[in-house]
Amino acid sequence: MARRSSMLLLLAAAALLAVGAGAAVPPSCERIECPAYDVVDNANGFEIRRYKDAMWVSTAPIEDISLVDATRSGFLQLFKYIQGKNAYNETIEMTAPVLTRVAPSDGPFCVSSFVVSFYVPAKNQADAPPAEGLHVQKWAGARYAAVRRFGGFVADADVGKQAALLDASLQGTRWAAAVSDGRKADPASEYTVAQYNSPFEFSGRVNEIWMLFDTMAASDM
Ligand SMILES: *[C@@H]1O[C@H](CO)[C@@H](O)[C@H](O)[C@H]1NC(C)=O
Repeated sequence: MARRSSMLLLLAAAALLAVGAGAAVPPSCERIECPAYDVVDNANGFEIRRYKDAMWVSTAPIEDISLVDATRSGFLQLFKYIQGKNAYNETIEMTAPVLTRVAPSDGPFCVSSFVVSFYVPAKNQADAPPAEGLHVQKWAGARYAAVRRFGGFVADADVGKQAALLDASLQGTRWAAAVSDGRKADPASEYTVAQYNSPFEFSGRVNEIWMLFDTMAASDM
């Protein structure tokens, strides 16, 4: 009996801790639709999420030296898409975040390859309009994300630093191997930057670095 109630206490404490330590859902997601996820773990400096299967719309790879510039030009294409520049002439609600996947490029030194994506809102998931030059597809591959949050406007000088901090916070945890395997399995992706605010919001901005991975080992953790 005593043992059972102390077990309950422990569970209650764990639940409280989970709430206290875990980053809350980004505030933008209370105003606009965001893809659903479960928090699988959180600890000092990172959160592990499992995303549900969903349709996303993505640009073709954009070669650039600047993530900020590539995101701007990718965002513009996606913005036209939701404004009705698609095969159904259908306007679509804005969602968050805007994702920018960063990958090494075969091109000149210092150039990276960026793919910018939007989550398709639930209403359009079943029949998302195709569009010339864009890929509308189920999120391929990894369903898990190791996430680190940071504020302010994303700057090219910061993202590598934030990715390195996320990497460091994962070292020695039970997720380190899975995340590292995820990166080896998908050499096309170093990390992904998620931005939750429009350029016109100056305070309370939320950004995240994601490292995507998918592992059988993770499902039984
Ligand atoms: C979309 O708009 C264009 C230009 O106005 C028109 O030619 C086309 O038939 C429209 N398509 C649909 C599916 O409504």
